Amino acid sequence: MNTTSANNPPLPPTPAFNMLRTLGLVATLSGLLVVLSYQVTLPMIERNKQQAIEKALYKVVPGAVQRKDFVAIEERIELLDTQPEGTLLYAGYDQTGQLKGIALETAAAGYQDVIRLLYGYDPYCQCIRGIQVLKMAETPGIGDKIIKDARFQQNFEALEARMHPSGKGLQQAIVPVKQGNKTEAWQIDAISGATISSNAVARMLNETSQHMVPIIMKNLPIMEQF
Ligand SMILES: Cc1cc2nc3c(=O)[nH]c(=O)nc-3n(C[C@H](O)[C@H](O)[C@H](O)COP(=O)(O)O)c2cc1C
Repeated sequence: MNTTSANNPPLPPTPAFNMLRTLGLVATLSGLLVVLSYQVTLPMIERNKQQAIEKALYKVVPGAVQRKDFVAIEERIELLDTQPEGTLLYAGYDQTGQLKGIALETAAAGYQDVIRLLYGYDPYCQCIRGIQVLKMAETPGIGDKIIKDARFQQNFEALEARMHPSGKGLQQAIVPVKQGNKTEAWQIDAISGATISSNAVARMLNETSQHMVPIIMKNLPIMEQF
């Protein structure tokens, strides 16, 4: 004899409408929370980014003690307004308002993740004067040498990035060479055992400079006015 059905009466059918209503409510609340946390954290993220850039700027533009921000829109450069819609450029000036160099952001895929750098461009020697990491996840003791290795950093004391006489791109591409093989001012002496990270630095500096150096050189008077 089947006693189960007699002792346990069948469960009532699940009310589909109530279930859907609850699910909808949970989904709406989760969505609202995501939007809210994005809205709350966005200004903080922006502020942190600006602080990181400010700190790095004075290291990659030697002699700079004050800054003015610009934006490159296609081929022209103008003072940064509230809504940037182009490539940001951070011009560094000395105490007298003399332009000392321009800092630019650049990025490329490294060994682990994207490496983001700020680098300083000196338009008077048409060379790169320094790099600072804004973000990286390269392996400690290997890839992070791009910032910790003094010998690698020497590459950026005066790395040539001269505008091509045609006004398009660089006269010489910035290229990495195996450690100890640097013979030219536009070459980057790589780190042995960390070729991937070294090459990423060379690649990003070359790509950004090929595009931005002609724009900077053609619009220099705008940035020279403090
Ligand atoms: C666990 C591990 C982590 C590594 N991390 C990096 C790194 O952050 N950057 C890098 O360029 N190479 C890294 N390498 C080494 C690369 O795999 C590669 O061997 C090296 O970049 C080649 O350099 P070389 O041509 O000078 O020998 C790592 C290797 C291992 C096993």
